Amino acid sequence: MAYTWSKDLETGNSFIDTQHQQLIKAVNELLAACSAGQGREVLDNTLNFLESYTAKHFGDEERLQMQYKYPDYNNHKSLHDNFKKFVNELVSQVKKDGPTATIINKVTLGVGDWLINHIKKEDIKVAAHIKSKRN
Ligand SMILES: [Fe+2]
Repeated sequence: MAYTWSKDLETGNSFIDTQHQQLIKAVNELLAACSAGQGREVLDNTLNFLESYTAKHFGDEERLQMQYKYPDYNNHKSLHDNFKKFVNELVSQVKKDGPTATIINKVTLGVGDWLINHIKKEDIKVAAHIKSKRN
């Protein structure tokens, strides 16, 4: 199953939206690499990309939140930190055991579904706050 971008995922902040699209694409590529039983190298590349892009995106988003004095920054940052930790652990697990069914399930629920939910529930609030400060 692949995740698709839809209107309800748009925060209205094009900088954030572009990165979210890239993240969803990275999750899809990882899932495809897992299920197609692709070579180790493809799998490692998709994992490394997801891990580094997640860190980059969260860093960018957190800087924006600081810049615009987002009131829920601490809570949002801890959600990001927990997710980064989860992704790091998942990456080492896949590198160690390969894409087992349990791990693929974790990628779907813990990474893909988490992201969609986080965008809809949290990032939309961030973008609305930035917008209100810009006007
Ligand atoms: Fe976020």
